[in-house]
Amino acid sequence: MIDKVIQITREAGEIVREGFGKNFSIETKGSLTNLVTEYDKKSESTIIDFIKKEFPSHSVLAEESGNHDYGSKYLWVIDPLDGTTNFAHGLPIFSISIGVQKDGKTIYGVIYDVMRDAIYTSELGSGSFCNGRKLSVSQNADIRKSVLVTGFPYNIAENPNHAFEHFIAFLKHARAVRRLGSAAIDFCYTAEGVFDGFWEVFLNPWDMCAGKLIVEEAGGLVTDFNGNEINIFSKQILATNNIIHNEMISILNE
Ligand code: IPD
Ligand code: CA
Ligand code: CA
Repeated sequence: MIDKVIQITREAGEIVREGFGKNFSIETKGSLTNLVTEYDKKSESTIIDFIKKEFPSHSVLAEESGNHDYGSKYLWVIDPLDGTTNFAHGLPIFSISIGVQKDGKTIYGVIYDVMRDAIYTSELGSGSFCNGRKLSVSQNADIRKSVLVTGFPYNIAENPNHAFEHFIAFLKHARAVRRLGSAAIDFCYTAEGVFDGFWEVFLNPWDMCAGKLIVEEAGGLVTDFNGNEINIFSKQILATNNIIHNEMISILNE
């Protein structure tokens, strides 16, 4: 089954890559900051058609079309284009993210970093890989030498949930803080040891389902800001190399 997940994640990525830099329709979802393009929709309908054909009984939770619940023990959690704002503005950092859950537990996570042609894959209990290369989180134990990443929710103006304060605090403690604009890619780079830690508030299930497994299977830890276990419906995420986890929790709660 993982081969099928990889196949459709790649196919969706190829559709989106084809559209990058071309003229396409851009609509807003509720606010001027939250965008959806015709490629978010094309990617999602391609993925859902594939699942309907290959696994017709499986349930689906997808960003643009919501819940397709058929009472199956399998649930596909789909972000058809993560990093839509980047895509819409011509910045080549965006991805396709598909996680598959069985009985509420994520068993497969696949993320395609489209413009780098990098496919990140993970299967519960079997490690994480990028284009077949095994991934490990960083070994850095010193937050002063760490490079961290975050993102900001679309509703930051109404409900920042200390997002600005956290950003400033980490800028003072870390070597550098980055903001790429694709949560799925933030997870992949954390799994690969490029980033030592990633935190964000108000993520949705499709932003984190695949990425959480990819980090965990690379030896990392993913919790909320108090160190508690989370599921895909939890809003806060802290994903790290495990070693700097407690120090990041202390800074988040300063
Ligand atoms: C967004 C990106 C971004 C994160 C936002 C997400 P979208 O997803 O992952 O990095 O900061 O919270 O909503 O809308 O581009 O799929
Ligand atoms: Ca997303
Ligand atoms: Ca999206």
